Amino acid sequence: MLRKLKSFDLHSKRILIRVDFNVPILDDVVVDDYRIRKTIPTIKHCIDQGAKVILMSHLGRPKGKIKPELSLMPTGEKLAELLEMPIKFSHDCVSEDAINVSHNLQPGEVHLLENLRFYNEETNNDSQFSMSLSKHGEIFINDAFGTAHREHASNVGIVSHFMNKGIGFLIEKELEFLSETLTDPSLPLLLIIGGAKIDTKIDVINHFLGLADNIVIGGAMANTFLAADGYHMGKSLVESDKIDIAKKILLNASKTKTKIILPIDFTGELDSIGSKDFYHADKDNIKDNMICEDIGQSSIDLFKRVISQSKTIFWNGTVGIAENKKFAVGTESIIDEIVDSECISVIGGGDTIAAVRNYDDELISKFSHASTGGGACLELLSGKKLPAIKILDKK
Ligand code: 3PG
Repeated sequence: MLRKLKSFDLHSKRILIRVDFNVPILDDVVVDDYRIRKTIPTIKHCIDQGAKVILMSHLGRPKGKIKPELSLMPTGEKLAELLEMPIKFSHDCVSEDAINVSHNLQPGEVHLLENLRFYNEETNNDSQFSMSLSKHGEIFINDAFGTAHREHASNVGIVSHFMNKGIGFLIEKELEFLSETLTDPSLPLLLIIGGAKIDTKIDVINHFLGLADNIVIGGAMANTFLAADGYHMGKSLVESDKIDIAKKILLNASKTKTKIILPIDFTGELDSIGSKDFYHADKDNIKDNMICEDIGQSSIDLFKRVISQSKTIFWNGTVGIAENKKFAVGTESIIDEIVDSECISVIGGGDTIAAVRNYDDELISKFSHASTGGGACLELLSGKKLPAIKILDKK
């Protein structure tokens, strides 16, 4: 059984929390604080209970080197701003000084450690390193959902050093929506999947075959499926080496209750991306020099109909090149339709969340859940167990 944060007596205890503060930073300033904000309820709860809070995270992939541009200092500044209180920061996550700071914390104080990946031992799941990290706390809480698919020292190796360990509010919520909702979903269940590459989404699609009533596929991935179905996609991005996989998925789907729904028309440009020679075509009329960049109006109407008939929707991946306003129309129409519906709606993936926020930042809260995970979210939706959660689930 996973132990939840609320079940611990936290008063005066040192709580070591693995968070995922792997956020975009530009010129030492956090440019997207979504992941940090999502850990605030866990941190605040610990503070309110009179706990001493120690936070650890990775940032980027420094590969064991100290890279000043990957310091967690800016995330500490953002955290202090969000908590409206000063926090302590240590420039090394396992130094004696850093451990002393943790041991001398007063109830209600917060201590952030420097980037764990400045040590290769973190990604190597080194047992000595996880032991050193464990010295910071008396209770271990994992709230780093975005990293839960990794098997590292701070989220897997560390677990054996604690008697008292569990998950924070963020992981609890992610599991509720990405895993529990799927065990007994309100039907009809719809999966909307987009983005460019089939590879990253195959396992999710396969897991939803037989489970979902409908799978809507958009984005460049849809080009490969249509090519597999015999359509000519002009100059559009098609993963020719994935056509056989797409064919197999279409065949497997035909043996289940799941209907795969592909776009029926597209908007795009002629000759090259950025030519501004805009063009619209039905799927069976795509010119040799057309690049499909978004779904067309007939596809939008079709996708909206499916959405309006669904009770539970999982969405990962935009259906067009949403960074370009001109080709964000399909994605934005899907956002409108979902937020206007009464369904349980779960979105994941950096691009999808960025598309919602670029369209209208307020709309993110209209979804039942917006996952903080990229790879972790996809793995959970593929029915896989995440190592960092599995290990906490053991007796
Ligand atoms: C993420 O952003 O997906 C997580 O923080 C994990 O980062 P990683 O892919 O570098 O392990």
